[in-house]
Amino acid sequence: MVDIVVKDLIKVYKTGKSEVIALRGLDCSMKGGTIHAVMGPSGCGKTTLLNIMGGLDRPTAGSVMIGSDNIVDLSDDDLVKHRRERVGIVFQFFNLVPTLTARENIELPMRLAKKDSKEMSARADELLALVGMTERAKHKPDELSGGEQQRIGIATALANDPSIILADEPTGELDSEAGHQVLMLFRRLRDEFGKTVIIVTHDQRIGQIADSVMTIVDGRITGETSGEAFHEKTTDAARSRSSPS
Ligand SMILES: Nc1ncnc2c1ncn2[C@@H]1O[C@H](COP(=O)(O)OP(=O)(O)O)[C@@H](O)[C@H]1O
Ligand SMILES: [Mg+2]
Repeated sequence: MVDIVVKDLIKVYKTGKSEVIALRGLDCSMKGGTIHAVMGPSGCGKTTLLNIMGGLDRPTAGSVMIGSDNIVDLSDDDLVKHRRERVGIVFQFFNLVPTLTARENIELPMRLAKKDSKEMSARADELLALVGMTERAKHKPDELSGGEQQRIGIATALANDPSIILADEPTGELDSEAGHQVLMLFRRLRDEFGKTVIIVTHDQRIGQIADSVMTIVDGRITGETSGEAFHEKTTDAARSRSSPS
């Protein structure tokens, strides 16, 4: 289990003549095998951070150490390898291929990593069972509920057994019960498989599973609290709302 250390991360988007500074020297460290929540207002740089960690984008400056590897220095080929094997990404809108069945979606990252077909099929069975979707393996995404699609999204992210799971508002489109199931699944990924899970979210229930909760404002981390403290704060707030004195 490797730790992640982000130092002085800067990202400037240039479009035509205008520049947007999405990350302004962001620092944070995340212990391997734990769950980290990232919260903050819209536009503060949460997705930008996740995309850089996931190798989907490169920063303007700064470093992202994953163990002893600085992913900012990776060649394009090695960054593809990082994206395919070391991280799994879970999206708000599931990002499943609509023409493929649930099982085929799970198999796709393994196909791209050139796994042999026997191994691929066994792994798909294992993941369908893990996310409780064995019975729905042959369904296409549009034949599944949002919660079911997200569980397939998580299985797809796990296909090549990455040590790090990055999730961008994974419960944002789900009803309360489906969102709860997804959070419980992330908890199992930590507890049973030792995954490092980083979740960008607005979901107040994150305190039930997160080890730490970080806040980003304007491209910088402005605070960090334990999941436990966050959970107490949110349940206290809910209690005082429901019992007017
Ligand atoms: N591809 C892009 N080109 C230009 N600006 C972008 C791009 N992606 C994000 N931004 C801008 O960078 C800032 C941070 O965006 P983002 O990381 O998506 O925030 P969040 O996920 O916290 O809502 C915003 O001002 C956004 O408009
Ligand atoms: Mg975002």
